[in-house]
Amino acid sequence: MKIRCIHTIIILSSSVILWSCSNKNETTPIPIPVPVTEQSTQAPAEIPAPVVSANTSGNEGLQLIEGADCLACHKIDAKLIGPSYQEVAKKYTDADIDQLAQKIIEGGKGNWGDIPMTPHEGLSKDHAKQMVKYILSLK
Ligand code: HEC
Repeated sequence: MKIRCIHTIIILSSSVILWSCSNKNETTPIPIPVPVTEQSTQAPAEIPAPVVSANTSGNEGLQLIEGADCLACHKIDAKLIGPSYQEVAKKYTDADIDQLAQKIIEGGKGNWGDIPMTPHEGLSKDHAKQMVKYILSLK
């Protein structure tokens, strides 16, 4: 009788545990109905504005020159502290692009007189070349 009682208690308690466990397991996966609104699926798709206007390719060198300190010493058509860009264009050809770009970065004197050009060390070779290409296009 005693044993049976204990047995019943065990069965009862274990079934309670099981029930509580299974009960827990059952409650979690119950899907909570979320009202899906039409708006949430249709995110407003704004058309991004064009990043750069298309006509920059030809003027990139000029824009770089305008963005740097070059025009403090150079004018397109007249000598300032440095030679005019038109004179530079007359003196050099496309074969000199690399050397001229290097000169802009390193600075220097001697080709036009004793006044030195200040170095532009922050300038990339690529940008310096674009500046030179623009200058040489002024012939
Ligand atoms: C402080 C004044 C000064 C600034 C700023 C300056 N230059 Fe010059 N630049 C000169 C002088 C002076 C010369 C002539 C150097 C020489 O006699 O070799 C010169 C020469 C040049 C030449 C011809 C180089 C050669 O060997 O014939 C180019 C190309 C040139 N500059 C481009 C530029 C560009 C591009 C910038 C801007 C990033 C710039 N310069 C900024 C003063 C300046």
